[in-house]
Amino acid sequence: MENPDTSNQQKVAAPAAAAEGGGGGEEEEQQVVNPWEVSAKDGGKIDYDKLIDQFGCQRLDQSVIDRVRRLTGRPPHVFLRRGVFFAHRDFNEILDAYEKGQKFYLYTGRGPSSEALHLGHLIPFIYLQDVFRVPLVIQLTDDEKCMWKNLSVEESQRLARENAKDIIACGFDVTKTFIFSDFDYVGGAFYKNMVKVAKCVTLNKVVGIFGFGGEDHIGKISFPPVQAVPSFPSSFPHLFSGKDDIRCLIPCAIDQDPYFRMTRDVAPRLGYHKPSLIESTFFPALQGENGKMSASDPNSAIYVTDSAKVIKNKINKYAFSGGQDSLEKHRKYGANLEVDIPVKYLNFFLEDDDELEHIKTEYAAGRMLTGEVKQRLAEVLTEMVERHRLARANVTDKMVDAFMAVRPLPTMFD
Ligand code: TRP
Repeated sequence: MENPDTSNQQKVAAPAAAAEGGGGGEEEEQQVVNPWEVSAKDGGKIDYDKLIDQFGCQRLDQSVIDRVRRLTGRPPHVFLRRGVFFAHRDFNEILDAYEKGQKFYLYTGRGPSSEALHLGHLIPFIYLQDVFRVPLVIQLTDDEKCMWKNLSVEESQRLARENAKDIIACGFDVTKTFIFSDFDYVGGAFYKNMVKVAKCVTLNKVVGIFGFGGEDHIGKISFPPVQAVPSFPSSFPHLFSGKDDIRCLIPCAIDQDPYFRMTRDVAPRLGYHKPSLIESTFFPALQGENGKMSASDPNSAIYVTDSAKVIKNKINKYAFSGGQDSLEKHRKYGANLEVDIPVKYLNFFLEDDDELEHIKTEYAAGRMLTGEVKQRLAEVLTEMVERHRLARANVTDKMVDAFMAVRPLPTMFD
């Protein structure tokens, strides 16, 4: 989930409306969102409403959030109630299953393209760890990054293991979680499903969905089944053998939607359930909300390895402010919260609803200054990053091996 280096790649237009829904017959959007590129129209903001229409997913509205609250008996996670997860596909079917006491499992992943994760990378993992006590499979697409980022096989594998440590540091339960690298795990039942998927997808179809061109190597074109099949329980016989009917929920950022449009399109033809999705916005760059944080521009992002001092400096120097440029004007007009990055970041990571509301009101009224908001943000992020750093320092190679071992998880549904 990375803003990739597209410099030597042909630029693809917004993928055409795919198999399911979408379209609306408008002219080509100038905003580009696909697994390899995220950029807003004319340097403005990503238009998430438009994405919902264009991709044909459903809005994750208040009624769904209320249902989660009723079913789980506790306040929905910050990421749900504050709109970080803003779109879904058939999430209601998962909630139906949950209501009836039926099992489901979660699937998410990470493309290991850099050593250090930034805060945006942690979003699906922070969320998952908190929410459902159900089994979880995490795919590390070392093969994908090897092909797109021009990394060697060995370097991609090394990065996958490093990233696994960060993921484990988020606090997952080894009795419910299976982490796998494609280079290690693809084969057997997983590979059989890949071939079944591949036979259902024409070249025309992937060109339509992903915008591949004649100059793209065939590794890229044949990759989508690899990301598709963890959606099917039969790809993990050591976990789900005899439970081939269980449903899958995928939390991901919206740029991964093309993979799963394809997956949902072929699933019924293979006799499988379509996976359900909940889809998040991107975590904005410090400089403003026209894309997502980029691993290639260190000043656009806060990394989980940044020190307290670096965090404070980056926020003070780079975080785009919606405050006015003189104290007098600020007191008079207040801050524009629509564009203010510190407030956006607090929206993701400050858990206390009352404090967040207070900050927004005071700042918008000009009673609170940008400097004060930035200072509070630095505290919140420093605490989070510090906690992560300590947890990660305690992740041993033995633990990584334990999470990545191909093994049954006999108590995963308890
Ligand atoms: N392609 C994703 C990335 O580049 C990694 C990934 C694989 C993923 N499977 C997933 C992300 C499922 C979300 C859900 O980061």
